[in-house]
Amino acid sequence: MNKPIRIALTKGRLEKDTIGLFEKLGFDCTAVHEKGRRLILPIADGNIEVVLAKANDVITYVEHGVCDMGVVGKDTIMEMHGKFFELVDLGFGKCKFALATKKGYDFYSGYGIKTIATKYPDVSRNFFEKKGMDTEIIKIEGSVELAPLLELADGIVDIVETGTTLKENGLEVIEDVAPVSARLIVNTVSLKLRRNEIDSLITLIKENL
Ligand code: PRP
Repeated sequence: MNKPIRIALTKGRLEKDTIGLFEKLGFDCTAVHEKGRRLILPIADGNIEVVLAKANDVITYVEHGVCDMGVVGKDTIMEMHGKFFELVDLGFGKCKFALATKKGYDFYSGYGIKTIATKYPDVSRNFFEKKGMDTEIIKIEGSVELAPLLELADGIVDIVETGTTLKENGLEVIEDVAPVSARLIVNTVSLKLRRNEIDSLITLIKENL
């Protein structure tokens, strides 16, 4: 048997939908359902190995070629960049990047430099650079929604899915930045060396989206 194709899969929000997709393809995913604390899991009769990882690490593993493929949000791709092929929009994990402020706050008025809190400094910088707008970007690790409430920032650039977090904290979207969904990424060398296997897997995936 060939070496299994190794797929890095983002833990958490995207995990359930990705495994749902694999099951739709007919792959036995028992090992994932019974994983306990194991992080490398054989599926599809051992033809595929799933590696559960944090989003940023999915990109790192695929870039370095220790995983052939990965499933990760466009949000992480836009922030981390990296050298790999982004081949399929999987259509799940849909949300958006948005600029939000305290309700009723007039963000675009006045001449002072605006302060933006975000977990995604690069995405934010690009967004405001395109507008030709000077901003101060402050990187926050946890709940970014706190920043305008504590008056650390004029606005935030963050992921909005249902909008509940913003609403419950008296914030509102004032502009959409970019749509986000889960993407299938592939290591550049793997695509050359294992082209047939990867191509047939991708075809199967596309047929089942
Ligand atoms: C994200 C994001 C918002 C929230 C938006 O955080 O940073 O806080 O989801 O979702 P909503 O529009 O459905 O309310 P997440 O829950 O992923 O946690 P994190 O802080 O660990 O990124």
